[in-house]
Amino acid sequence: MSLSTLLLLLLVYGSHAAHLYGTVMTFHPRDTYPNGSVTVVLRYRTAVDGGRTCPTSETWTCSSGVCGTQLGLTVNVVHRESRGEWCQGEGILTRQTTTNAPFQLTLSTGNWFANRNSVSSLRALTLVDLRTRSDTGQANRSPQTTIIPSIRVPSNCQRNISLLTFDPDGDRVTCRYASSTPGECANCLPPPVLTVSAPCTLSFPSTTSSNEGSYAVQLVMEDFPSQSISLTHTDGSQTSSTTSNPLSKVPVQFVFKVDPVVPSCTEGQYLPRFVSPTPAHGERLYVPASQTEVITIKTEATNSPVSELLFSGPYNLVNQTGSVSGEFRLSWTPSQAEDGEHHPICFIAQAILSQPGQ
Ligand SMILES: *[C@@H]1O[C@H](CO)[C@@H](O)[C@H](O)[C@H]1NC(C)=O
Ligand SMILES: *[C@@H]1O[C@H](CO)[C@@H](O)[C@H](O)[C@H]1NC(C)=O
Ligand SMILES: *[C@@H]1O[C@H](CO)[C@@H](O)[C@H](O)[C@H]1NC(C)=O
Repeated sequence: MSLSTLLLLLLVYGSHAAHLYGTVMTFHPRDTYPNGSVTVVLRYRTAVDGGRTCPTSETWTCSSGVCGTQLGLTVNVVHRESRGEWCQGEGILTRQTTTNAPFQLTLSTGNWFANRNSVSSLRALTLVDLRTRSDTGQANRSPQTTIIPSIRVPSNCQRNISLLTFDPDGDRVTCRYASSTPGECANCLPPPVLTVSAPCTLSFPSTTSSNEGSYAVQLVMEDFPSQSISLTHTDGSQTSSTTSNPLSKVPVQFVFKVDPVVPSCTEGQYLPRFVSPTPAHGERLYVPASQTEVITIKTEATNSPVSELLFSGPYNLVNQTGSVSGEFRLSWTPSQAEDGEHHPICFIAQAILSQPGQ
């Protein structure tokens, strides 16, 4: 059992339709039966804007291949932003297929939160290939990642943001903007203020206040084998997969907010910084099933109180924050069902300046 950590940068039913803050999906294959049938556990996290209930169940439809039958779906709240900006929910979905052939699931649901790059409909695609890999003797596991639904950066602060990526099979993981041809997005308009580089880093240049506002970011994360491998189908047929063929594709979609100027971009002043004993970006922790791991996160910002820890991870990650200002605690007790899986956790410290809009 392991758990990866990232420092990064997340509603309710009312009379208005909720506006989406993106989605992310990952998967772990579970059992392969002698009759060829395979089960796979897919987790998705979708966020919606505040003032309404958290997302409940979204329908991922089969858009290619034979996706089998859905054995179960459980939905829980991951985290609700305290001012009601957003709430992220997690759906855990189990599917059983009759063979290990590849298939694609598509989410096509509702409208994005208003954004400056004019993305209106949410659409996301996941490629699952459960054929047996020659290098691991198992089905491929997707890259593991998660995202805070809303990442905020002041307009005058240049920032490079490394997304959380971990591949349980040791594959090379890359990120790119989603593309319309395989239907990875409905309105495939990248935000002009962000560039994405292959190792899953987003770069935001220092800009002017004219760029302030919200942007929809629609990325695809893919894993590639580090050398050519073959994939064996249930019927015994083999296909080779080179280092340029993605083994899986998962969506990583969120809102990027360019905030008003701050007097200093140095972390620890107006923008919070993490201090010891906060785990480092990419750190991995191993937790036995049923045992509780507590992660202590400490932040400081001399000129603005750190009001909140925004986090994303498995729904059973619990905020145990006490009364010490700037100190947060997250605890996680993996269940037996999570044994052998890899779970990403990411968090961001949010400081609120007293000026409006920050
Ligand atoms: C294959 O075996 C599994 C486990 O016993 C069972 O759930 C599934 O229905 C079987 N599939 C077929 C196609 O018979
Ligand atoms: C971001 O990355 C670019 C290119 O690698 C580098 O020149 C720049 O100094 C980095 N900026 C920060 C704030 O780390
Ligand atoms: C965590 O819980 C404490 C109370 O235990 C609460 O004051 C705080 O707002 C919560 N923080 C988050 C990030 O939910």
